[in-house]
Amino acid sequence: MENNTIQSVLQEHRTFKPSAEFSQNSRFPDPASIEALYKHASTDHTGFWAELANTQINWHKPFTKTLDDTQAPYYEWFNDGELNVSYNCLDRHLETQGDKTAIIFEGEQGDTQHISYRTLYERVCQFANGLKDLGVVSGDRVVLYMPMIPEAVVAMQACARIGAIHSVVFGGFSAESLRDRIEDADAKIVITADGGHRGGKVVPLKEATDKALSMGCDCIEHSIVFTRTKHDINMQSGRDILWDDVIKDKATTCEPTWVNSEHPLFLLYTSGSTGKPKGIQHSSGGYLLGAITTMQWVFDIQDKDIFWCTADVGWITGHTYVAYGPLACGSTMLMFEGAPTVPDAGRFWKMCEAHKVTIFYTAPTAIRALMKLGDDFPKKYDLSSLRLLGTVGEPINPEAWMWYHTVIGQEKCPIVDTWWQTETGAHMLAPMPSQTSAKPGSCTRALPGIDAIVVDEAGNEITTADQGGYLVVRKPWPSMLRNIWGDAERYNETYWAKFDGKYYLAGDSARKDSDGYFWIMGRIDDVLNVSGHRLGTMEVESALVAHERVAEAAVVGSPHDIKGESIFAYVVLKGDRPSAEDADAITQTLRTWVGEQIGAIAKPDNIRFADNLPKTRSGKIMRRLLRTIAKGDEITSDTSTLENESILLQLQGKE
Ligand code: PRX
Repeated sequence: MENNTIQSVLQEHRTFKPSAEFSQNSRFPDPASIEALYKHASTDHTGFWAELANTQINWHKPFTKTLDDTQAPYYEWFNDGELNVSYNCLDRHLETQGDKTAIIFEGEQGDTQHISYRTLYERVCQFANGLKDLGVVSGDRVVLYMPMIPEAVVAMQACARIGAIHSVVFGGFSAESLRDRIEDADAKIVITADGGHRGGKVVPLKEATDKALSMGCDCIEHSIVFTRTKHDINMQSGRDILWDDVIKDKATTCEPTWVNSEHPLFLLYTSGSTGKPKGIQHSSGGYLLGAITTMQWVFDIQDKDIFWCTADVGWITGHTYVAYGPLACGSTMLMFEGAPTVPDAGRFWKMCEAHKVTIFYTAPTAIRALMKLGDDFPKKYDLSSLRLLGTVGEPINPEAWMWYHTVIGQEKCPIVDTWWQTETGAHMLAPMPSQTSAKPGSCTRALPGIDAIVVDEAGNEITTADQGGYLVVRKPWPSMLRNIWGDAERYNETYWAKFDGKYYLAGDSARKDSDGYFWIMGRIDDVLNVSGHRLGTMEVESALVAHERVAEAAVVGSPHDIKGESIFAYVVLKGDRPSAEDADAITQTLRTWVGEQIGAIAKPDNIRFADNLPKTRSGKIMRRLLRTIAKGDEITSDTSTLENESILLQLQGKE
């Protein structure tokens, strides 16, 4: 790890207290109630979680055992209990608030829908019945490749209702990525749409699905196609079925399938440091509990709120804080299909005004992009309904934080900076906004019941303020991942082996300041964070070398104003290094190629050609050196161990 001994030089000392008005009106107006939560969690970890599980979840069969650690690190929570997640998100609200709006939807082109809890319940039941008629049974895998439309949530909830395990593939991923995920999950059904509206264009999802299915995916029996954009698509008879035909004449009730608390609710593929994405496997009961408690603690969710999380359902944020958390809490949420700059950079703020959004949650990359486009856009709209703002996905730089605070939050909204991961299922380090003062750039403290610390290489806790180390979690928690689909060994290896099973290794470095606040310093593995999304450098490298002209490639991240990190690729071609004129054309070809292999977010921003890559005498690529060069910094490290020192000029683009 490179920065575990770095003392941070740029320290942020400003603190921002929540306003008295916010605190008084929050779920936790009294600091003592929060202290009591922390105290209960630290004195009786399992008792604390058991009490929450009993009070927040409707169990079909109550659990008697809270934590089973006999097979650690394959932990189990509430494992003799039975429940249904969809029942907890829908049925249990019907009697008291069936007419309440569950989803306010706005399409990119401005079309809107208000869907009540009762209507959502009926749509979920109908679709669940349709899936059953197609032969989907509990435990089957169903892949979703959909736009950000209510039907994505309907499909996820319908899977949950019948015990099918969904795996959502982000609609921006390519056909190749979709095929890999379908095959890894051995899925029976893929649910897609003709297309989605995004960035003023139609994203041709059905076409990509057809391509994926033509390249393999023998496991798929049917693809279900929702009609959204209404452009021409091919339907393969026998295999492809329109959504409307799936739900035709289906009953609007569907008895939930009661599943064990440990029954997998979903898989979600995420990047690791090797080329193959990992199918992160989440549970039912524990995951649901994490979603509910963090909605309450961090978002302070209340009956009257209009909650808007801008994340796509293809990411974990869109699972926990779009598809499950808000519904489990019986709240009203806004869902948006499109891009934040269509038709202009005022879209988010216009929607906040129009739908009276009270809680707004987005990524620093979006905040930076919108900040760059100026204050005039937000100033055109009435943002006074907002009472709480949140960020997720990467560290937020103080400049963007201050803009969010002053221009969007109008200095009255607390900002919750939430650190968590696909693997953690729910927020881990985040403020309790009624009491925790914020510091721009810090995700503040671990939530109750989350035992996170920073340790050194030997696994000893670092108690010196501002000394960086490995961020780890000492005790299991309910919403943690349970496994990597089909690869239990890799689960153990990736998350537990480094500290002999004692700690969950998050893969981030962090420091704690003298007030005990956490500051995330970056990834410790070869994972990039591009626009808040994780991408393995190896994935991009594998895509590059899969091109017939490429002999070798190395990919590193380089700081980027808006995206957080940009992708910098060093490429060795088969044959000669291209001339300056040829290099541009090959760069374009390779960018398009990577876009096709993985998806547009993985396209390298820069490609530099060299005769060779810098390697040590033992053959290891010197990534640290490549990162220095990508940043344009002077090389100060010792390069004498380089096999071929003369390539440095080529790598720097100077020759
Ligand atoms: O490096 C951390 C960064 O995003 C990683 C998790 O990525 P992913 O699984 O795609 O989930 C993103 C949404 C939960 C983390 O290991 N990260 C996430 N949130 C923050 C963050 N870095 C700094 N501050 C955050 N608030």
